[in-house]
Amino acid sequence: MNNLDIRHETPSDILAVRAVNEAAFETGAEAALVDTLRENGKFVLSLVADVEGEIVGHILFTDIAMEPGGAATRMIGLAPMAVRPEWQGKGIGSALVRRGLEDCRELGYRGVVVLGHPGFYPRFGFAPASRHGISCAYDAPDEAFMALALGDVELPKGRALYQPEFEAV
Ligand SMILES: CC(C)(COP(=O)(O)OP(=O)(O)OC[C@H]1O[C@@H](n2cnc3c(N)ncnc32)[C@H](O)[C@@H]1OP(=O)(O)O)[C@@H](O)C(=O)NCCC(=O)NCCS
Repeated sequence: MNNLDIRHETPSDILAVRAVNEAAFETGAEAALVDTLRENGKFVLSLVADVEGEIVGHILFTDIAMEPGGAATRMIGLAPMAVRPEWQGKGIGSALVRRGLEDCRELGYRGVVVLGHPGFYPRFGFAPASRHGISCAYDAPDEAFMALALGDVELPKGRALYQPEFEAV
C-alpha cells in the first residue's frame, strides 16, 4: 500500500490510537491498557499506521524484565497491536511488526517476546519462546508465547515478566 506511512505516535494521535484498539478488540481492556502504560511512562516504542491522515493501526513495545536478569537483559515485549477491522488483511499489521522490529534492534534490544496468534508471528521469525528457554509469566499455550532474537545473539533464559499494568488485561 503506497499511501501507508508507519510513524511514531504523536500526542495528537492519542484518541485515534484508543479508537483503533477499541475497534479491533472485543472489550475496551487493551485500549485502557495502552492509555495507562502511556500515562505511567512505560512506552518504549509506539507506532501508528497512517493512511492519508487516518490512523488505521497501532503497535506498542514495552520493556520486559527477565527472571533472573531483570531489565538489563534488554528484552522487549510486543503488545498490544491492532488494525481496524475494515483495514485488516492488507499487510498493515505486517508493516507495523517489521518496522517495530527494526526500531527495537536499533534501540539496542536483544530480543522480542509476543503472546499472540501462532499463525501470524512466525512469518517474522518468531518461534515458541520455550525453544529459547524462555517461559511466560502468564498461563499461555506453548505455541502462543513466542520469541525472536534481534540479530545473531543468544537470548537470556528465564521467565519473561511484562510491566505490572498488563495484569489488568
Ligand atoms: C492481528 C492483526 C493485528 C493483523 O493485522 P493485519 O493488518 O490484518 O495483518 P496483515 O494483513 O499484515 O496479515 C494478515 C494475516 O494475519 C492473520 N491473522 C489475523 N488475525 C489472526 C488470528 N486471530 N489468528 C491467526 N492469524 C490471524 C491473517 O490470517 C493473515 O494471514 P495470511 O496473510 O496468512 O492470510 C489484526 O488482525 C487485528 O487487529 N486483530 C484484532 C486484534 C488482535 O488480535 N491483535 C493481536 C493480538 S496478538
